[in-house]
Amino acid sequence: MKTSAAIALTLAGFATANPIVRSSKWKRAGLQGLDFEIINLARNLESLELNYWNQGLKNFTDEDFNNAGYQGFRTYLELFRDQEIAHFTVLNEAAGEGFENCTYTFPVNTPYDLLAVGQVITTVGEGAFIGGVANLTDSPSRQTGAEIIGNEARQNSLLRQFLGLDYFNAVNFDTPLTASQAYSLAKPFLNCPSSNPPIKFHSIPPLTANFTSGSTPHNAGDEITVNWDSSKVYLGQDVHITFLADMYSIPAPLTQSGNDGQGTVNLPKGINGTSIIVATNFNGGGPIPDEQNFAIGYVVVA
Ligand SMILES: *[C@@H]1O[C@H](CO)[C@@H](O)[C@H](O)[C@H]1NC(C)=O
Ligand SMILES: *[C@@H]1O[C@H](CO)[C@@H](O)[C@H](O)[C@H]1NC(C)=O
Ligand SMILES: *[C@@H]1O[C@H](CO)[C@@H](O)[C@H](O)[C@H]1NC(C)=O
Ligand SMILES: *[C@@H]1O[C@H](CO)[C@@H](O)[C@H](O)[C@H]1NC(C)=O
Ligand SMILES: *[C@@H]1O[C@H](CO)[C@@H](O)[C@H](O)[C@H]1NC(C)=O
Repeated sequence: MKTSAAIALTLAGFATANPIVRSSKWKRAGLQGLDFEIINLARNLESLELNYWNQGLKNFTDEDFNNAGYQGFRTYLELFRDQEIAHFTVLNEAAGEGFENCTYTFPVNTPYDLLAVGQVITTVGEGAFIGGVANLTDSPSRQTGAEIIGNEARQNSLLRQFLGLDYFNAVNFDTPLTASQAYSLAKPFLNCPSSNPPIKFHSIPPLTANFTSGSTPHNAGDEITVNWDSSKVYLGQDVHITFLADMYSIPAPLTQSGNDGQGTVNLPKGINGTSIIVATNFNGGGPIPDEQNFAIGYVVVA
């Protein structure tokens, strides 16, 4: 008896070493309309993250991380990969059949790149769930979304700690993204088979943003140079840069240097961590309507 109990415990230990918890609630979800579209986007984002960490595991050894100054990071990389398997699996089961892996391409050549881009990807993933939860009508979906948000936020904090960035990312409240904003930030990394259920959100053109004064952690007033593709995006004179932050979005004037798709903006007060920025002329208080997001990117403030 004693022996078989010990064996059972050992087996249980193996079985839970890499747990994938399937919520029984999901089986009843039967997602419709916008609920389906949001969860379909979410499974695409989780698949992107899973493939990201998997590529990282293939590309870099323990020694690579140690030499780059990220002692012991590979253990967390394995953990993140396992967490993303769990997230992807539960969302894929909820959204139903038909999903195949896309081709995932990332601007990563070094261990530093892996952490730095991963830090942005987890910021976007978390923001996508926060915005998604606001629009989901299906209660099990909202609950599972919330369960994933906390997990992604801790991944993000750990990455930020390894990178020497502000552990908390945002000041008091994390930043919600609309589905179109989240999709557009992920889109450059994605090339999905046409047989996959399509992501039915608006694609917003990219902008890149880089600080051209001060150093991390940046202070209000530091200058940011913003670039966009002027052959695809026209930003009229009334367009500003809105820093998506906390509960509020903070607009700042954009000074355009000509017609070459370049301008500057100064960091407003109250922005911290990795801020998602949008070129827009929208003046309302809520989320920026899809058609008024003219270009989107991010800047790492602290
Ligand atoms: C998709 O990619 C992930 C991560 O690389 C891998 O674990 C999984 O087996 C792949 N799925 C299929 C259906 O190829
Ligand atoms: C992994 O390495 C390949 C080949 O060098 C590269 O294309 C890819 O971006 C890298 N991905 C990650 C996440 O490290
Ligand atoms: C999500 O809800 C917000 C209001 O909180 C709304 O502005 C936005 O358009 C909604 N998104 C979708 C895709 O319906
Ligand atoms: C500028 O910012 C973009 C992201 O917006 C980043 O991909 C790029 O590496 C940055 N360039 C430099 C020179 O830091
Ligand atoms: C970022 O947060 C820290 C800590 O709350 C604060 O000292 C700093 O002023 C903030 N930065 C900006 C640009 O608001």
